[in-house]
Amino acid sequence: MNSNNLPGQPHLAYRGNELFSEDIRLSDLAKQYGTPLFVYSKGSMLAALAAYQRGFAGRNIQICYAMKANPTLGVIQVFVQAGCGFDIVSGGDMDRVLAAGGAADKIIFSGVGKTRTEMRRALDAGIGCFNVESEAELEVLNEVALSMGLRAPVSLRVNPNIDPKTHPYISTGLKDSKFGVAHERALQTYQRAAKLAGVRVIGIDCHIGSQITQEEPYLEAVDRMLDLVEAIEAAGIAIHHIDFGGGLGINYNGETPPSADRLWEKLLHKLDSRQFGQRQLMIEPGRSLVGNAGVCLTEVLYLKPGAQKSFCIIDAAMNDLPRPAMYQAFHQIVPLVPRNTSPENWEVVGPVCESGDWIGHDRVLAVQPGDLLAVLSAGAYCMSMASNYNSRGRAAEILVEGNQSHLIHQRETISDQMRGETLLSSMAPETKS
Ligand code: LLP
Repeated sequence: MNSNNLPGQPHLAYRGNELFSEDIRLSDLAKQYGTPLFVYSKGSMLAALAAYQRGFAGRNIQICYAMKANPTLGVIQVFVQAGCGFDIVSGGDMDRVLAAGGAADKIIFSGVGKTRTEMRRALDAGIGCFNVESEAELEVLNEVALSMGLRAPVSLRVNPNIDPKTHPYISTGLKDSKFGVAHERALQTYQRAAKLAGVRVIGIDCHIGSQITQEEPYLEAVDRMLDLVEAIEAAGIAIHHIDFGGGLGINYNGETPPSADRLWEKLLHKLDSRQFGQRQLMIEPGRSLVGNAGVCLTEVLYLKPGAQKSFCIIDAAMNDLPRPAMYQAFHQIVPLVPRNTSPENWEVVGPVCESGDWIGHDRVLAVQPGDLLAVLSAGAYCMSMASNYNSRGRAAEILVEGNQSHLIHQRETISDQMRGETLLSSMAPETKS
């Protein structure tokens, strides 16, 4: 019997006294593959995608998974098979989509600093759209496309100047942000684009931020975008698709973001009331598709009780789970096999040599060295932002599907880390004459 007692984690449940992801006992995976270990539930990803698909039923929609959230090939494959397109931000992202069997024409390319090489390669591959983020980029893309005898399909990312009411590092649609073309310059930039022989205007896009838990910023963004589309089309420039970006938040610690289907029911109502409901629409969700599909399994190495603070030192660290250190983010931490002993308060920290290497402050846990814990909501922006700091190899990743588990990414070894490095020749032993 499943007793799902972990809110926001549809695929995770204690059965008896053991935590399962779908039908797999997580402690078995930790024993087989070691820790730290990322485990993702395919069913949870598809359920999250299904909420968007329900919301858009009967509409002309392309859902482009924002793969920066989790770009592992096995994860991309799940979304390829489900018919998604992809929002990429680098040539490397594009290579991953193509390697996982994704179609180039369903790729949209975002990012403020695309290089000429990346543009050339993306044009060569035949990607669906460049989401252009500045006037300077537009001119360069035009030049690159002309040099190849091509016209680049473009959408301008417009910065609608809306506060998404989230962490400042992940707010992207405010006036002072580096992203997008300012709302008030959008029309003239479209007029310039329409004159360039190397670009073909096909759309408009925006992305106001990430981990958004309220619907109002979206409603406001929709209105601002539609006002612009009306103005651009009145100037004789056709806008084929409208892309509203990603950003929908997830439940990390009791947040209650609108569900994707309910949010889109409201937004589509607004689009319908302004006669835009039958346009080609696009969205770029990342976190809301994978964030709560993943956990990071970790082992308790040492307990260090103290007068002021007591530390629970685990084998996962800020290099595996950078969000707490970077954004003061909260991730739930739960035992794989709960103990009956009375819990205490712990600072849950990693082995990295920085005081900023904390995973959870003041957590109430009954733990002993050797216990296994799960850090929840670790499917998005964890492995994708992981580093080799302190020469730590990046963790392995597993995809769970019912009672099957697939190793989709091997643990990184020290030779993987040192590959490409060379010793200085001056350090080679000298030969004496
Ligand atoms: N589209 C664009 C243009 C974006 O910049 C982003 C995220 C997305 C879509 C997807 O947003 P999502 O649906 O995942 O919120 N590392 C941070 C999040 C950075 C988000 C960057 N852009 C974190 O861990 O919270």
